[in-house]
Amino acid sequence: MSDLLHLDEQSVRALRTAGETGEPQEVTHALRSHDLLTLEALADLAVSLPADSIEHNVGALPDVVADGRAPTLDLELREMILGLETNGAWCVVKNVEQDPRYSALLDSCLDEIEDLVSGPGRAYHREGFVFLSAPGSMTPSHIDPEHNVLLQVQGTKTMVTGRWASPEARADEAERLVGGGHRNLDHDVQEPVEHHLQPGDGIYVPPYTQHKVVNGPALSISLSVTWRSRALADEARVLRANSYLRRAGLTPTAPGTRPGADRAKATAISAAERAKAAVRRR
Ligand SMILES: [Fe+2]
Repeated sequence: MSDLLHLDEQSVRALRTAGETGEPQEVTHALRSHDLLTLEALADLAVSLPADSIEHNVGALPDVVADGRAPTLDLELREMILGLETNGAWCVVKNVEQDPRYSALLDSCLDEIEDLVSGPGRAYHREGFVFLSAPGSMTPSHIDPEHNVLLQVQGTKTMVTGRWASPEARADEAERLVGGGHRNLDHDVQEPVEHHLQPGDGIYVPPYTQHKVVNGPALSISLSVTWRSRALADEARVLRANSYLRRAGLTPTAPGTRPGADRAKATAISAAERAKAAVRRR
């Protein structure tokens, strides 16, 4: 059993099911007072990483920001992070695994959970993001193309997850994202379910789940650990194939509807990717 994630028999069972059904699943963890996740430690981390690892903006955004452009706060980075209690900003420190201490922390969190959700040995591309957000700030309605466990470290936040009206509706947005579209959605979360996260709570959010995050009344620190899996990579290939077919005037079926067709599409795209890579190497 992992020391950092509290996975009892029931949560192990639930996570295995979540991996199959694509339903979000709440978990609990022991990262609340971790030395690497204090505001001071995270401000030090942020200034030590390349500038493109940090993204920040003003915290008060509407529920929908379809073009993905949000205004930023004009402050020095360390000052902005240490002032988060009062300055109203939202900040994400991306790819914290660039620092070996944080990489080890991600490993401790994910060694167990990845295999449960994605199948033993089928997960890869582990990445960590720390979200620092001022009281009341919000992350608008969006989807992400990877598996994600969000662990609430300090303060509270509400994760609102949604349900797609149909597999086709999910596939349309996933295809748009895989084709280079922005992760933000042009609509609010549909059939919303609220997950109220206290420090010590977490939630597994499956790929392409529509969700938004609303911060509680205090500074919030959360660690989001993401990974990919072979099944997910195959699904992305099917989505790319569908996009080609659509441009050719056809109406392809959503991934998961016809496994035989999915395999053929994934194989074709895989061959095209290999051919492209070979041409590039020459
Ligand atoms: Fe997200």
